[in-house]
Amino acid sequence: MMTTRDRWRVCKTVCLMFLLAVVTLTVFQRGSFSSVGQFQTTERHRRMEGLTEEEPQRKGFFSTPGRFWRQEQQRMEPVTEEPLVTLDNGAKTWDIKTANCSANLNFTSADWFGGLEANFKQFLLYRHCRYFPMRINHPEKCSGDVHLLMVIKSIISQHDRREVIRQTWGKEQVINGKRIKTLFLLGTSSVESERANHQKLLEYEDYIYGDILQWDFMDSFFNLTLKETHFLKWFSTYCGNVRYIFKGDDDVFVSVQNIMEYLEDSSDVKNLFAGDVLFKARPIRRKENKYYIPHALYNKTYYPPYAGGGGFLMDGPLARKLYLASETLELYPIDDVFLGMCLEVLQVTPIKHNAFKTFGLVKNKSSKLNKEPCFFRGMIVVHKLLPQDLLAMWRLVNSDLVCAQKLDFL
Ligand SMILES: *[C@@H]1O[C@H](CO)[C@@H](O)[C@H](O)[C@H]1NC(C)=O
Ligand SMILES: *[C@@H]1O[C@H](CO)[C@@H](O)[C@H](O)[C@H]1NC(C)=O
Ligand SMILES: *[C@@H]1O[C@H](CO)[C@@H](O)[C@H](O)[C@H]1NC(C)=O
Ligand SMILES: *[C@@H]1O[C@H](CO)[C@@H](O)[C@H](O)[C@H]1NC(C)=O
Ligand SMILES: *[C@@H]1O[C@H](CO)[C@@H](O)[C@H](O)[C@H]1NC(C)=O
Repeated sequence: MMTTRDRWRVCKTVCLMFLLAVVTLTVFQRGSFSSVGQFQTTERHRRMEGLTEEEPQRKGFFSTPGRFWRQEQQRMEPVTEEPLVTLDNGAKTWDIKTANCSANLNFTSADWFGGLEANFKQFLLYRHCRYFPMRINHPEKCSGDVHLLMVIKSIISQHDRREVIRQTWGKEQVINGKRIKTLFLLGTSSVESERANHQKLLEYEDYIYGDILQWDFMDSFFNLTLKETHFLKWFSTYCGNVRYIFKGDDDVFVSVQNIMEYLEDSSDVKNLFAGDVLFKARPIRRKENKYYIPHALYNKTYYPPYAGGGGFLMDGPLARKLYLASETLELYPIDDVFLGMCLEVLQVTPIKHNAFKTFGLVKNKSSKLNKEPCFFRGMIVVHKLLPQDLLAMWRLVNSDLVCAQKLDFL
């Protein structure tokens, strides 16, 4: 029998726990709306400026809804079977235990360095710091046979985006016997004052969902390339049996069903790398632009072909080769361009596919297309949707939607 005192004690404990949970959730929600690190949300399509690119095809999206890629299967150019870099079996655990990396002051006295903006100086001083230890790891994630691993770049404060992705396209599932797994890729908070609290909340989130990978580098725009190389190294270490990878942002719409169909149709393509590929993109030289690159950092006229980082597909063996290729290059501050440079080392040409819309849909922002579920249903990735819109669109697309064979406004 419980005494009144015991009951009171139990009641107190329960109340305290409840209060704690409420506080936790509130802090987390606040965090989501703070202005921390909005860098990932700024529009990637700005980069379309300064490009020499043909108009995207506007016809035929709905000629056979959801299956239009069948008509435009592109063959890869023949690729030399000999990898330019040799494969090894790699380590079995994350082998970076300390992040002791001091600034490289070798070129600080050079004229060209003095003229750079602060963020480029910061980038160059620490460019040689290639790998950092892990804070949250999931070595078991790839165990067994995984057909598709979905990895999503996120930052600590975007908890609401992760939440919606888990409910929608990021849900772990088995489709026709093929396992799909999901992971979020994070660094540390870029706001010193919030770091400790955010870290605790993230660890709690991971305790619940078990889908966070976190490395000990600061999440900043120029450190997105670190996220790329860290993921490639992590993948090479732990994921020998993963057939395909989808990698993308946390503010995109994704159709897993269309990915699966596309992959099925591409099953005999070697070195598969598909996305919203830009050929002959020029580095942006206007300083106001988020993607501005000074000549001191890149002096060629064009970038190698690369896929917009908002969402792309690659096969597992290619990811391992990309890791080795990345080790032969200096880091470049724009992550998707860097990956294009790695592809160039391997002499692999990425496949441009119209179902990937990572640079914005249409130039006219008020166009109906941006809200048209029949349009979304035929796509693989669409940039960019904030959590509520993503959830609403997901529900529409997965409802009993009736889509006309041809839509008037196309
Ligand atoms: C970090 O590096 C500095 C200089 O490279 C060295 O003096 C110091 O002992 C290192 N600290 C740790 C903890 O490894
Ligand atoms: C700085 O320059 C020296 C001499 O050229 C070189 O040995 C060293 O590796 C350089 N440091 C870094 C971090 O690149
Ligand atoms: C990247 O992260 C490292 C480690 O946190 C930090 O020292 C460096 O300043 C960051 N670089 C940029 C460009 O933000
Ligand atoms: C471009 O940069 C490379 C490497 O930084 C350098 O070797 C080359 O001389 C530069 N070319 C021009 C035209 O500045
Ligand atoms: C953009 O689309 C809206 C709605 O379809 C249309 O009313 C408007 O005229 C368009 N603007 C331009 C610049 O094409």
